Amino acid sequence: MGVRHFLTLTDLTSAELRALLARAVELKVRHAAGQLYEPLKNRVLGMIFEKSSTRTRVSFEAAMTQFGGHAIFLSPRDSQLGRGEPVEDTARVLSRMVDCVMIRTYEHEKAERFAAHSGVPVINALTDRFHPCQLLADVQTYLEHRGEIRGRTVVWLGDGNNMCHSYLHAAGRFDFELRVACPEGFDPDPRILAGAGAHARVVRDPLQAASGADLVVTDVWASMGQEEEHLARARAFEPYRVTPEIMARAKPDALFMHCLPAHRGEEVAAEVIDGPQSVVWDEAENRLHSQKALLEFLLCAH
Ligand code: CP
Ligand code: NVA
Repeated sequence: MGVRHFLTLTDLTSAELRALLARAVELKVRHAAGQLYEPLKNRVLGMIFEKSSTRTRVSFEAAMTQFGGHAIFLSPRDSQLGRGEPVEDTARVLSRMVDCVMIRTYEHEKAERFAAHSGVPVINALTDRFHPCQLLADVQTYLEHRGEIRGRTVVWLGDGNNMCHSYLHAAGRFDFELRVACPEGFDPDPRILAGAGAHARVVRDPLQAASGADLVVTDVWASMGQEEEHLARARAFEPYRVTPEIMARAKPDALFMHCLPAHRGEEVAAEVIDGPQSVVWDEAENRLHSQKALLEFLLCAH
């Protein structure tokens, strides 16, 4: 097989994803025990960030350092990408110098074009359409707290955005039921919803959607690039805030997740994100461990 990319969860089979997350759990334990493991010694990850980031940048950079390699941060402001060098040319050049490229950008097609011209694996670190790396961390977190996510009921509240699209892919890949509760006009892409088949459906009423759920997930109401829509969106999304009432409808042992950054009092009440059912800090930490497993999968012979 040629070079493998990770642009969406569907680039890996269910079996590969399950093995990757089992490996992430193992790498986390070994790291906590202080074991040195440097499978990527002298290897280099190029990281292109056309949007802001805290977790993604730090987790990939820390992962490469802990694995004995190095990461290079590139932004359009101080690279030729910002001066109009075609993405195809950048891909051809970078992939002759580094071992893997991570890209966070706006149009998903740009990440696809980059991958099509790259001789090394390309990882999608968020586009307007998908955020697959976050799903690795989310499913690992569920696994660690509650066991297999297979057969469980997950409710997505809020915007039918990039995170929602990756949850739709995850429902199929990890075999769980996804209820999508978005205000009218903010549903996910109908083709991605349809692609999830019987694993997903829209449930318009947020209380009904949360009923009996094992996991409640939300995200910001205005994603990066939608800042000017913030006020109009806030009005539409008001009934979709994750409140203690929503959590009370879910199973008593339901978990709450949010990819972060969060806005307390908007998409989630402070009592929920700072409450006992919230696992958002473990979820953020697991970006590091699951991406280490991803880098190992893509870069080490297996
Ligand atoms: N969740 C996430 O991707 O966070 P950053 O935008 O801080 O990378
Ligand atoms: N939907 C959010 C996720 C941030 C990690 C955004 O795209 O801004």
